[in-house]
Parts: sequence; structure tokens; C-alpha cells
Amino acid sequence: MTVIDKPPLSGSPVSGPAVPGQPGFASYIPDSAPFSPEQRDWLNGFFAGFFADYGATPPPLPAAADPAYADPMASGEDDEAPWHDPTIPLPERMDMARGRPLRRRMMAAMAQQDCGQCGYTCETYANEIVQHAEERLNLCVPGGKETARMLKKLIEEMGGGATDPDEEKAKAEARAAARLDPKTPVERGYSREAPVEARFVSATLLNKGASEKSTWHVEFDLSGAGLDYTVGDSFGVYPRNDPALVAAVIEAIDAPADFPIAGKPLAEVLTADMALGAAPDMLFELISYMVGGERKTKARALAQGEDPDGDAATLDVLAAVRKFPGIRPDPEAFVECLEGLQPRLYSISSSPRLDPDRLSLTVDHVRYEIDGEDRTRLGAASTFLCRGLQPGTTLQVYVQRAHDFALPANPATPIVMVGPGTGVAPFRAFLQDRYVSQAPGDAWLFFGHQRRACDFFYEEEFAGLLARQALTRLSLAWSRDADTPRTYVQDRMRAEGAELWAWLQRGAHFYVCGDARRMAGDVEKAMVEIAQRHGGHDERSARAFVADLKKSGRYQADVY
Ligand SMILES: Cc1cc2nc3c(=O)[nH]c(=O)nc-3n(C[C@H](O)[C@H](O)[C@H](O)COP(=O)(O)OP(=O)(O)OC[C@H]3O[C@@H](n4cnc5c(N)ncnc54)[C@H](O)[C@@H]3O)c2cc1C
Ligand SMILES: NC(=O)c1ccc[n+]([C@@H]2O[C@H](COP(=O)([O-])OP(=O)(O)OC[C@H]3O[C@@H](n4cnc5c(N)ncnc54)[C@H](OP(=O)(O)O)[C@@H]3O)[C@@H](O)[C@H]2O)c1
Repeated sequence: MTVIDKPPLSGSPVSGPAVPGQPGFASYIPDSAPFSPEQRDWLNGFFAGFFADYGATPPPLPAAADPAYADPMASGEDDEAPWHDPTIPLPERMDMARGRPLRRRMMAAMAQQDCGQCGYTCETYANEIVQHAEERLNLCVPGGKETARMLKKLIEEMGGGATDPDEEKAKAEARAAARLDPKTPVERGYSREAPVEARFVSATLLNKGASEKSTWHVEFDLSGAGLDYTVGDSFGVYPRNDPALVAAVIEAIDAPADFPIAGKPLAEVLTADMALGAAPDMLFELISYMVGGERKTKARALAQGEDPDGDAATLDVLAAVRKFPGIRPDPEAFVECLEGLQPRLYSISSSPRLDPDRLSLTVDHVRYEIDGEDRTRLGAASTFLCRGLQPGTTLQVYVQRAHDFALPANPATPIVMVGPGTGVAPFRAFLQDRYVSQAPGDAWLFFGHQRRACDFFYEEEFAGLLARQALTRLSLAWSRDADTPRTYVQDRMRAEGAELWAWLQRGAHFYVCGDARRMAGDVEKAMVEIAQRHGGHDERSARAFVADLKKSGRYQADVY
């Protein structure tokens, strides 16, 4: 925890306007800054002490010179938020936001996906933190440790706060309790703070033959859950960790599985409550107190976000403990160093018009190998959903209402949907919805995946929808078919650009869903090129055209 001791309010007076009521003291805080008299006194004292200690000439009033300190909630001249692009690395985003009000720099520290997993958008999550309405700094799942570290650094700059994990945890629990307090009602089932129970029905493998992928159609029974949803919404799921991973962690720390922690056995706490993904800095901090010599130096470096052995990015909790063999942490201290297990969101791939009590997802089972480790890493929630549930099991879920991702209000409006891989999920829902409601609008789907023979999800369904004209046009892109060159969805868009342009001229709404880091940006680039080639725009006006589509709600994205 970073502690800034309050300097005494008496000390060498320095030049500057006097603090009202305290003759002789400089005021570094402008009258317009949103601080109480007590906070103002403390901050003035802090700056006075700081400049006196360092014998420095005080710089111009920070608030006057640096909007970053003037008003953390100021709007700034940055409504376009140029850093709001998930393909820009964090250090560059922070550079772009330099000198902006604190809330904007906090926004730049988020992963920029507006994915909703934290329960906010990037902008509103940052605003809530700055206003102390949200204490949890680890909610940005795609930003991971990098975002959490930067938020902590910014909080420290702000003068401390939620940097002590115990304090942070206690505040977070108090907030969560307050949210569930009947005085501050949250709609049950529509927020990560208030999940309800739904019943798992089935998980069916969508890939065939020798696919490299493992993607599952997962069905839930919502009857009795009191949940409704609309196409475009996402489904939040609270996972449980894989029992084999939990057992391996318990073995690695050499603790009894039934060790009681707050009335629960250790094994249950590690299964239901704690994340076993990327090892938190606090865990390395704990390890650094348990080892000596070179191992201590390494653990300390890892706790500071350094990478002494070039493996930091791949150290999950189990790998971190195994990296320091022989440690035997106190189970309670070990658990306190872990992060809470977060819910995961999935785009809903069904329409309630077909059956309001059924809901489906299209889930890629995350599995990957790390060089030098004879263990396949498994994603927590995707393993839980695809492989870990018996039919009839109940689980904690919620519906996350979509922000700006919905079918057009007019059912006659044409739609163009680009959804490679699991990105197809919401578009299956859109098509089901339009089929059942007999919407007259044309619908064009761009789907792509690795191999046609193995990875063509929902092939028969799409054929049926084509035959019934609920799907007007289907364009396919296979990236790893042996007999054809690698083709991505944006290649098909370019190849059929004249027709796509004609659809846009007819007022079509354009949608993209799936990978945020590369695919979504590449699809946007293809749209800009299409506007140039088929719409007669130069590059600048083509970009403006796409930006206008977005502003008018005709270009919508659900990316992760
Ligand atoms: C709005 C929204 C909608 C979504 N819709 C869908 C959907 O329809 N279908 C779907 O499948 N997913 C969807 N996701 C993603 C989903 O929420 C989960 O992030 C995903 O299932 C992985 O979660 P997990 O718990 O299984 O994996 P985790 O335990 O969270 O592990 C994933 C992490 O493992 C690491 N990792 C993964 N692959 C590798 C690799 N090859 N090498 C090294 N490290 C790696 C990365 O750090 C990654 O962040 C959506 C996300 C959002 C925000
Ligand atoms: N971290 C990453 O870089 C990354 C990349 C992709 C997916 N993911 C994540 O993996 C999960 C599941 O993915 P998924 O099963 O939906 O499928 P996917 O892995 O996204 O792949 C779907 C299809 O998209 C292709 N693709 C790869 N790069 C592309 C690009 N730049 N533009 C257009 N298409 C591209 C893939 O081709 P090839 O596989 O042959 O390249 C494949 O044919 C998602 O959570 C996604 O976010 C992460």
C-alpha cells in the first residue's frame, strides 16, 4: 500500500495565494476544484510540505496548468476519446490521454472493448472509480493485470485510496452488500451483482471431424428464473473452476483440501470464489516473504510487474506456485492473495420468440499449451460450460442488456452481419428472431472459420433460413482449407463490395461480432476501402462515412 503521510499544516510558507482562513499559506488548489475545506487544507499542506522538503520552486498551480489535476470529472476537450481503440497498446493509450482529467486517463487504462464484463462501459467504469462509487480495480477482464496495475498507479497519484487489498476487498464487499440491500434495489437477474439460477440443459459439439477447434452449442432452461431477454443481449455466467486444477493447486501448496476458510473448505473456496488464471502481483509478494536469495529477488521483481525469466505472461496461479517449489503458504494468506472469480459474458445465440424459456450460447472451449509445460491450460468458464456440467445442474447467471447492439426498429430494414467463429452467435439469434416475426427486411451474413468441412456451425439451419428467405445472402470465408488460399470475412466483403455498397445505400444496418483485437479492426478497414472503391470517397471522407454510420447507429459492434 502506498501511504502518503499527511504533512503538518504549519511549515515554510511558500509563494502563492493565501489559503482562506490560513494567512501565509499557499493555495495550490483552485477554488473551483471539487474538494471539501478539509481536503483542500490537507492537499495544500501536502504540496507545501512537498515543495518545502525538496527545496523546490513550486511549479505553476497544478490545477491551472494541468487539467489532469484540476477536476477529475472535467469533460476536457476529448469527447472523441482517441484512445478508445482496443488495438492500441496501453502505453500508447496512456500517452494519448496524458494531461487529460483523471477520469479520462482511467478510461484510457481500460481495454477499450466496452464489452460490459465489468458491468459498465470503459468510460462509465472510469467515472465510477474517480467518484469513489466503485472501489474494485480488477473488473476489466480483457485488460487483466496491465489495466489493474495502471488503475492502482493512477489512484496512488490521486492521493491513495483503494490500493490496500484488504481495504479494497472490504469496501467491495460492503458495496456488493449495499447493492443487494432492499434500500438500493437492483433488478435481480440483470446485473453481475444480482445473479439468478438457471438450469443447464446440454452442450453439443459444433465442430466435426479433424477440427482444431472445440466450439459448443450450450442450452439453458430459464423456466422459473424470471428472466427475459432480447436478441443482442449477452448472458453472464458465474463459473466454477475445474476440479482437477483446484486439486493440483492444493497439492502444490501442500495444504489440506478441507482447511476451513471463513466456514468453507479450502477446495470449495478455490473452486467457487477465487480466480486461478493469471497469478496476481500479491501472490508473488507473498512468495517473496517465503523464499530467500535469488528466489526472493525474482518473486519481488514479478510482484512489481517485471519479467526476470521471460515467462511472466504465462504464469497462472499453479505455475507461479510451482515456480517456487517447496513453499508452503498459509492457506488463508494464499487465498487472500488471489483475485475473486469473475463472471464471463457470452453473446446469446437464440431468440426468445422461438421459446422464451430457452436460451443458447455458442462457446469456444479455450485450451492452449505453454512451451515447456506438460499441461494444457483450460479457460475457466468455457471449460465449465462446455465440459463441466451435468444436465439439470443449476448455475448462477444474469442477462446483460445490450448497449447499442440490436436489430433495427423497422423490420423491413436490411441487415448485414459479419460474424466469424463464435462471432456468429448473436446473428443466429437475429435470424431466428426475424424468421419467427416474418420480418420482410433482407439479411446478409458473412461467416468464416478455419475449415468448411469441420467448422461450418449451424450449416443446416442457415440452409433452411436461406430456403425460406429469412437469410437472403450468405458469404463464407475459410482460412485453413487446403485447396483454397486463406480467406477471411473481410476478404469476402471486399470481393462483394459493390453489392455491399448497394445494401448500405438501401439503408442497411451493419453489424460485426467476434474477436476485438484484430478481426473487428480489419473489418472496419475493409468498410473504409469499400466506401472508397464503390462510393467514390477519398480515404478521409470514407473514414468519415464509417464514423457517421457508427454515430447514427447503423454500424454496431459486439466484440471481445
Ligand atoms: C460481450 C461478450 C460476448 C462474448 N461472447 C462470446 C461468445 O459468444 N462465445 C465465446 O466463446 N466467447 C465469448 N466471449 C468471451 C468469453 O466471455 C470468455 O472470455 C471466454 O470464454 C474465455 O473465458 P474462460 O473463462 O474460458 O477463459 P479464461 O480462464 O478467462 O482464460 C482466457 C485467458 O487465457 C489466456 N489465453 C487464451 N488463449 C491463449 C493462448 N493461446 N496463449 C496464451 N494465453 C492464452 C488469455 O490471457 C485469455 O484472456 C464474450 C465476451 C464478451 C465480453
Ligand atoms: N488473442 C487473440 O489474438 C485472439 C484471436 C482470435 C480469437 N481470439 C479469441 O478466441 C475466442 C474464440 O475464437 P473463435 O472460436 O470465435 O474464433 P477465432 O479464433 O476468432 O477464429 C474465427 C475465424 O476468424 C479467422 N481470423 C483470424 N484472424 C482474423 C482477422 N484478423 N480477421 C478476420 N478473421 C480472422 C480465423 O482464422 P485463423 O484461425 O486461420 O487465423 C478463423 O477462421 C474468442 O474469445 C476470441 O476473442 C483471440
